Amino acid sequence: MSKKILVVGGTGYLGQHLLQSYSYARQSLALAFTYHSTPLPQPFLDAFPHSLPFQIDLKSGIGFEAISSVFGQPDVVINCAAISVPRACEIDPDTANAINVPSSLVKWLQTFKQNNTLLIHLSTDQVYEGEKSFYKEEDIAIPVNVYGKTKLAAEKFIAENFPNFAILRSSIIYGPQTLSPVPKSLPVQWMDCVLSKRETVEFFHDEFRCPIYVKDLITIILALTNQWISGSKQMQLLLNAGGPDRVSRVQMAEAVAQVRGYDTSLIKPVSASSVDRGVKSPADISMDITRLVQTLKINPVSFKDGVKLTLATEATR
Ligand SMILES: NC(=O)c1ccc[n+]([C@@H]2O[C@H](COP(=O)([O-])OP(=O)(O)OC[C@H]3O[C@@H](n4cnc5c(N)ncnc54)[C@H](OP(=O)(O)O)[C@@H]3O)[C@@H](O)[C@H]2O)c1
Repeated sequence: MSKKILVVGGTGYLGQHLLQSYSYARQSLALAFTYHSTPLPQPFLDAFPHSLPFQIDLKSGIGFEAISSVFGQPDVVINCAAISVPRACEIDPDTANAINVPSSLVKWLQTFKQNNTLLIHLSTDQVYEGEKSFYKEEDIAIPVNVYGKTKLAAEKFIAENFPNFAILRSSIIYGPQTLSPVPKSLPVQWMDCVLSKRETVEFFHDEFRCPIYVKDLITIILALTNQWISGSKQMQLLLNAGGPDRVSRVQMAEAVAQVRGYDTSLIKPVSASSVDRGVKSPADISMDITRLVQTLKINPVSFKDGVKLTLATEATR
């Protein structure tokens, strides 16, 4: 019988890339996804004709019953749903908490008799305080904003209430646009767009991240999926999921400029403290990814190579 994969938040940036990757293997996998906002855009329906859509609300838990009766118990659930914009979390912390802590999802998974489901949950580097470089998974997590606090609470909830999980603390995810374009601006494409105007642009020099190329994150999720469906034991994994490079926004913009051949002197370094973004942002949440590399034998690409791959893919659209 086909193994069943459920992508929660299938309409988002990562969710769509995941659905696309799982679709390639659709002979052996039954695929379903959840969405929240209606209507589903036509380009989305056209892109994923073989996946079963289910509308759910993580806040109320409405919608899970229909998945039980139509699709049944999934073998793997990937939770990509969240209020993923830190400023939005700051404005409405209660809603952010209700959606980002997936209690309704976990409670639904607990309704199935055996523990036959692997839950892969997307967390964030923003659980770290940002006061040092290259955080390890065992370092104490002290989030500085509501988004980070809700994501850390989610990790704790899952670890305490579900026996079989992998939590991925993702850094900034970058890569090509999705088949049905997402409304938010994508980092590499945004930098490319502003630098292409050949005017001076300000970038932060003092905030550090380890951005991860979206297809590397997908390789990680597919590896975990394969481990579980090919008979692995239950897991309780926590992994930093970042790229190998610790970069500031200035360094990210320089990589884009170099790949595109723009004048790097247009990049004006400024401090993150010079701008009020309506949310506290941790300074240095670069991550040590040794555990990821050793556990899954996956080596994410450098930021510059990821930029090349992103822009090359966009050029073929
Ligand atoms: N993108 C990044 O750079 C980044 C970095 C670190 C960690 N992450 C984490 O990675 C995951 C995926 O990020 P992303 O950028 O792909 O997210 P995204 O594009 O913002 O997508 C969010 C998804 O959540 C769904 N959703 C929102 N409210 C919901 C609700 N009340 N009930 C059910 N579903 C709801 C949305 O559905 P509709 O579209 O139908 O409304 C959408 O599918 C998130 O957990 C995020 O925190 C992302």
